[in-house]
Amino acid sequence: MIPFSPPTLNQDDIDAVVEVLRSGWITSGPVGRRFEEQLAQRCGTTAVVALSSATAALELALRAAGVGRGDEVIVPAYTYTASASVIDHVGATIVMVDGEPGSPFPSVERIAAAVTDRTRAVITVDLAGVPFDSRPLDALLAGRGRIDDGLAAALGRPVIISDSAHSLGASLEGRPCGTIADLTAFSFHAVKNLTTAEGGALTWRPDLPTDGEELARWVRTFSLHGQTKDALAKSHGASWEYDIIAPAYKCNMPDTLAALGLSQLGRYEQTLERRRELLAHYAEGLAGAGVELLPHDGDGVVSSAHLAIATLPVAGVAERNRIIQDLYAAGVSANVHYKPLPLLTAYRNLGFDIADFPNAFAFYATEVTLPLHLALSDADVEQVCTALAGALTGIRKAA
Ligand SMILES: Cc1ncc(COP(=O)(O)O)c(C=O)c1O
Repeated sequence: MIPFSPPTLNQDDIDAVVEVLRSGWITSGPVGRRFEEQLAQRCGTTAVVALSSATAALELALRAAGVGRGDEVIVPAYTYTASASVIDHVGATIVMVDGEPGSPFPSVERIAAAVTDRTRAVITVDLAGVPFDSRPLDALLAGRGRIDDGLAAALGRPVIISDSAHSLGASLEGRPCGTIADLTAFSFHAVKNLTTAEGGALTWRPDLPTDGEELARWVRTFSLHGQTKDALAKSHGASWEYDIIAPAYKCNMPDTLAALGLSQLGRYEQTLERRRELLAHYAEGLAGAGVELLPHDGDGVVSSAHLAIATLPVAGVAERNRIIQDLYAAGVSANVHYKPLPLLTAYRNLGFDIADFPNAFAFYATEVTLPLHLALSDADVEQVCTALAGALTGIRKAA
């Protein structure tokens, strides 16, 4: 069976974790700080805070932007639940926007059209590792929305937060992901390009009109119960005493996991290269099969090649699902990214109706995500392409 997305860890990764386990300090500490520093260097930002997930990073980004009850936050309908659930977590209202025809991404104009005088923030999504170009939003959103205080007031527009769960290492015209939106959240979940098993990070563009050091301190403190001293600081000398400045979260990253990330970061350039090569093999292997691959690169866009999203020449959901079954029978594990949020119970219960998101539904109905990971050989990619072509022929015959 060709698996969908196993982690590819090597002996260096294992040794790095063992070293931390033997070091006498296993929770957040010096290894995490090194991981954060190297991430910041890679993203061209001045600070990164490593956290327990991208979800935690997105939620802290909303909190840092002062988003709360009475505010609206715009988010695409075509994404994973975490991009939207965090809006609900902070008590704000989710405003969903459809994608464009034939695309999972909304245009910046569609996002701008959803702004009201209650819009405090926008969350964009770098689906599949393709960086969303939110830069035109700076001008489109200027002077609009709820910008009476906090970061939005300093920016003179709603705060733009990038859900970059998929896109560590992507860039737009040479600007790395992390410097494009105001705040950026990364994921290091087990299926991601770089994994700490579970984990995430928050960063922000270096020219954000706020004190970056103060923001880093705030995020760190809020990820640790709102406690003024972390465990490492408390362990030095007799400095046990601390205060709790807010009833905050607990979503820090321990050094045991940071060690995994730090070790993989050292070879991340090769990881990206190989993933891009695999995508190119898919493009060659599927030429002529009527399958369209989501474009990853071109026009100054450099993707992190996270997901091989394909649009199939099939009639709809039933045929697409049949293809996934046929692929499985042929030894290939495939997936769907994503079921648009309005199809999910939680969002239906919040009043969203898929009929209002026809483009997201149309994209979903014929979408399949093919395996893309470092354990794939070129021959594996050929096997996937052959299996997919065979499954499509089977569907055509049955029709
Ligand atoms: C688009 C997107 N956003 C956010 C997340 C949440 O990431 P995490 O599991 O690190 O919270 C995911 C996870 O798969 C995702 O795909």
